[in-house]
Amino acid sequence: MKKTIFGVIALSLALAGCTENAGRTAKMPAADTAAGKIISERDCKACHGLDGKGIAPAIPNLAAQRERYLFNSLKEYKDGQRIHAALKNMTANMSEADLRNVAAYFASLPPIVNTAATDVKHSSPYETGKLAAAACAGCHGADGNSTIPGTPSLAGQQPHYLVAAIQEYHQGDRLKSAMKSNLRESDKLELESMALYFAAQTPVNRGAAARGDPAAGQPLSAMCGGCHGAQGASVDAATPSLAGQDAEYLMKATKAYRTTRKNWGMQRYIAGLGDKDIENIVAYYTAQTPRAADKVPTSTQELAAKCDRCHDQDATPTMAAPKMKGQDKDYLVMALRAYRDDKRDSSTMHRMSFPYSNAIIESLASWYAHQPAK
Ligand code: HEC
Ligand code: HEC
Ligand code: HEC
Ligand code: HEC
Repeated sequence: MKKTIFGVIALSLALAGCTENAGRTAKMPAADTAAGKIISERDCKACHGLDGKGIAPAIPNLAAQRERYLFNSLKEYKDGQRIHAALKNMTANMSEADLRNVAAYFASLPPIVNTAATDVKHSSPYETGKLAAAACAGCHGADGNSTIPGTPSLAGQQPHYLVAAIQEYHQGDRLKSAMKSNLRESDKLELESMALYFAAQTPVNRGAAARGDPAAGQPLSAMCGGCHGAQGASVDAATPSLAGQDAEYLMKATKAYRTTRKNWGMQRYIAGLGDKDIENIVAYYTAQTPRAADKVPTSTQELAAKCDRCHDQDATPTMAAPKMKGQDKDYLVMALRAYRDDKRDSSTMHRMSFPYSNAIIESLASWYAHQPAK
């Protein structure tokens, strides 16, 4: 994907109205909840409970869920659009009226009273990242703007690139013992969170290179710009920005692709350049104004507000988006990963969830699971 992850989200949120399925908003035929209750006692209660509460983690609550959404889901299992072996078998022998009735039954149940836990911390990835980044401040600066020659700034850097770079130090792919010993074996969620925090900071230009000629470097930089962005401000989440970066670090990092650092594209483009060329290109990039990777929502609430437009608004929705407040957390995590990883189909959700890191999915799921169900 040649787009910043958050750019994709913002764009798709802007494009996707809540008007999908306009044709299906017509009222459904009246359902028989008593008949639905009989089916649920026979076939569903072992997993979804008589009160519609999933009996184990990762089994969704169905109580008070939107009727149309429940019905659509059951049809999708029956038709094989949504994959789940037990549900496919069970729905295979059910008529459309059965599906309608059992959906109406669960929708009619009162919402599950969840303990809207006050003890659960809804720390956003940004906040988690900020805490973890304190360990890096001595060298990289509190906000990711380093002042030490040879030490790169991390502020505004592309988040996927940062995660990959840290993992390279962990794995010893990049030979720099100083960095390796400074990185704890933080888990993937913590890494992603740190990367999101740094990506959102405003980068400061580190100062002009002592050597090299920016004017001579500019034409040479044309071959770098296709990947690193105009004037070295990358718009791809996996490719680093170079604009305004520390000169000494840029020199060393570029030359490292001749020896230790491995990246097919970079090795190819650096191969034909002499030391003087690299000096000039670096001089050009250090003279450019750095820009932060796209703005990351700093709180989970801010992010959830975007989801609520379709999901948990109080008015009757115009599309079959399920309620999420009070839903089982593990189930929400699983569902979001399934959209992102192409294991569950929904053009609307797919557009939104595929760029989501595990850190964001985890915090959103936790947020929704602990909101009072309605
Ligand atoms: C063996 C356990 C089991 C039984 C029995 C079972 N379910 Fe489920 N149900 C699940 C699991 C697990 C999921 C989540 C599957 C997935 O990821 O798609 C689920 C998902 C669903 C969903 C989708 C909910 C959502 O939020 O997307 C509906 C609707 C549903 N079940 C209805 C029923 C009905 C109606 C019955 C009885 C006819 C039933 N289930 C019986 C385990 C079960
Ligand atoms: C003792 C100083 C020091 C500390 C503390 C430190 N770093 Fe570094 N870091 C460096 C130096 C020096 C480099 C350049 C290494 C090289 O040339 O490969 C670097 C490089 C990096 C890079 C590569 C940047 C790029 O543009 O490729 C990342 C990412 C990074 N550090 C992340 C971190 C994180 C996250 C922490 C805190 C958990 C941290 N560092 C702590 C000194 C430090
Ligand atoms: C085909 C796309 C592509 C082109 C063209 C390209 N790069 Fe890169 N560059 C990358 C990618 C991807 C990385 C990150 C690779 C990694 O993880 O080591 C990178 C990394 C770098 C780094 C390391 C940055 C850091 O923070 O550690 C420097 C410096 C760099 N490139 C300079 C250049 C220069 C100078 C040119 C032009 C001569 C160039 N690149 C051309 C894709 C490209
Ligand atoms: C433009 C409307 C829209 C927006 C905005 C939206 N969704 Fe959805 N979402 C849907 C629709 C429609 C479905 C049902 C898709 C299906 O049947 O698989 C859905 C399904 C889901 C599900 C599956 C729930 C279940 O019970 O199986 C989850 C989880 C989810 N969305 C999370 C989110 C999150 C988190 C956000 C915000 C980052 C979000 N959605 C934003 C429309 C939207």
